[in-house]
Amino acid sequence: MALKLRPLSYSLGAEVCAIDVSRKMSEHDFGDVYRAFLEHGILLFRDQHITREQHIEFSRRFGELDKHDALPRDRHPDHPEILMVTNEPKLNGAPSDSKYTGRQWHSDMSFTLVPSSGSLLRCITAPPVGGDTMFANMYMAYDALSAGMKKLIAGLHGIHMSGTRKIANSTTGIPRAEEQKRINPPVAQPVVRMHPETGRKALYIGDKVKSFDGMTEEESRPLIEYLVQHATRPEFVYRHQWQANDILVWDNRCTMHCALGDFDETQLRHMERTTVLGTPSGYVVKAA
Ligand code: OGA
Ligand code: MN
Repeated sequence: MALKLRPLSYSLGAEVCAIDVSRKMSEHDFGDVYRAFLEHGILLFRDQHITREQHIEFSRRFGELDKHDALPRDRHPDHPEILMVTNEPKLNGAPSDSKYTGRQWHSDMSFTLVPSSGSLLRCITAPPVGGDTMFANMYMAYDALSAGMKKLIAGLHGIHMSGTRKIANSTTGIPRAEEQKRINPPVAQPVVRMHPETGRKALYIGDKVKSFDGMTEEESRPLIEYLVQHATRPEFVYRHQWQANDILVWDNRCTMHCALGDFDETQLRHMERTTVLGTPSGYVVKAA
């Protein structure tokens, strides 16, 4: 099987056309998919009418799956490998815990000691318009830095805090954020990470980073803000407009992403994610 790929943007991403991810795929054919994943950072599979079990099964081809012990509120009660990303209210009418998942630039599970290598997000219901997700190519962002800046950040570690950014006028996130802090102490991660499979260096930064290890927040903030702004320049970014039955897999080691929240919140947006375990990275730091 020769893969039919269609680039999604200048900076990253490719659509894999004419494929059914629920069909048995030989090692050889999956090898082609995996190589395309490493090369493009994001793969899109459209029109995949699959079950939760098939989502999990296909995801396992990418590696061992996270059971989401770090995010217990959001996992599916019967399938710990599935993380709910939905604004559907709970049965008692309370807002969904995952209503604001991903509303800041981040790489999945960076606040743990086993950050994810890849995530597979399946769109079950998209709002009629908007609800897009942006992705940034962190190889390109690193490569575009000056030699001086590369030298400056070479030894730095960013301290990643778990939890969702506070959304104005919302109390949804407070109990969740407090629980998150309890379960997941801050973890320091290298600002420049070597991708274990491609050997290329990528920036590893985002809005979950509040300071650099050994520096104050005040000292760190300008450089963190600069690096996030730099990495999310339009030429490094792809903006995904979701359709129902899309599956998007992204490489968390060389991309970061952000849910825009650009949609009418009274409309349903229901996504489900699996998370592939990456290689161990980082160390726990005491909260400042
Ligand atoms: C995620 C995430 C973004 C979105 O599932 O990891 O960040 O747009 N989702 O739902
Ligand atoms: Mn995410």
